Amino acid sequence: MSFQIPLFDLNYDEQEERAVVETLRSKWISTGPKCTALEDLFKDYLHVDHALATSSCTTALHLAMRVLGISKGDEVIVPSLTFAATVNAVKYVEATPVFADLRSTDDLTIDPADIRRKITPKTKAIVVMHYAGFPCAMDQIVDIAAEFQLKIVEDACHAPLSQYARPSASYASVKQGTALGAIGDVGVFSFFSNKNISTGEGGMLVTNDEAVYEQAKLLRSHGMTTMSYERAKGHATSYDILDLGYNFRMDDIRASLGIVQMKKLPADLKRRAEVRSWYLEELKGIPELGVPFADYEGRASNYIMPVVLKDATRQRRDELRALMQKEGIQTSVHYPAVHRFSIYQALPSQLPITDYVADNEVTLPMYGNLSQEDVKCVCDVLKHHWLAESTSV
Ligand SMILES: Cc1ncc(COP(=O)(O)O)c(C=O)c1O
Repeated sequence: MSFQIPLFDLNYDEQEERAVVETLRSKWISTGPKCTALEDLFKDYLHVDHALATSSCTTALHLAMRVLGISKGDEVIVPSLTFAATVNAVKYVEATPVFADLRSTDDLTIDPADIRRKITPKTKAIVVMHYAGFPCAMDQIVDIAAEFQLKIVEDACHAPLSQYARPSASYASVKQGTALGAIGDVGVFSFFSNKNISTGEGGMLVTNDEAVYEQAKLLRSHGMTTMSYERAKGHATSYDILDLGYNFRMDDIRASLGIVQMKKLPADLKRRAEVRSWYLEELKGIPELGVPFADYEGRASNYIMPVVLKDATRQRRDELRALMQKEGIQTSVHYPAVHRFSIYQALPSQLPITDYVADNEVTLPMYGNLSQEDVKCVCDVLKHHWLAESTSV
């Protein structure tokens, strides 16, 4: 079915078309100069030393686990309110994910206090996920990691060009304004179609650690010492295989889309911030709905627009989603909690806040071209139809 107001709209125009045609005509379509140019843009925009384009964020997460030396017998603390790939990466290297709960229904990021409770002698790393593009409590998490000598992986799929804003002046471990993804040992991004940067499939790994970058680059391409592009240009004539690697490369066709998308991003984020401000204004009139991160004042990517029903149930949430669908408004849920999926059910998980949010969150439409009228229409359905229905039962 086609929705009157979809959840997401692809921010493409003739610039993306021209970029792809130019790459096709260059006759170099696999990993090459366009990937390097996209990596350079990431380095510039995020003020990070190294960036490595990958075939997806999932493969970037897998590389992160490998390069940080996570392996069988290790434990990695992870959020559960995330896409499954965040957690699956831990399993790829035969380590054990240990779920930590959220801070609150207003801040849907991993709770530093619960991270601390979950640390054991086997813990090697913490994976954080900057939900909707809003930062996790990185000052506290960086301090915990330093205290217990743990690595930090930032799943920044939702957060390209989001910046860290300290919650209060009493925190000082992370520099104000640091790009999300550039705080931990490794940061990863996704360019899946519905992300802020869309290339169909694709991802990026960033790090300030040269050894981590070199190892990730090696593993991205079969553990080979040279790339096809270098050989085609005559810069290398043969190769060795140094480690058991993968084919996790991005191609230049996607990278050329990514370059255009990345250049559009600052303007797109401004528009999204405006869309969010319209939502915040309209949603003030609906006390039954909580808006996570409502007071956040730093720069955020606003990848999605989550709301959480107060004192509700999964059934009420699903009724609301059904009504919105009937009115032509597409919604989603971010996310079904990972610890409830069949493959993770055997792990011990006491996550009351995650459970509540997974049952009561609704994701409203969010994209740069959403008009104020559209936002009003979404909120009117919430105010007049759903609330009218709920008071009449
Ligand atoms: C938080 C999060 N982590 C990881 C991924 C995986 O990204 P990809 O589809 O690029 O592998 C996604 C994608 O939806 C995501 O939202």
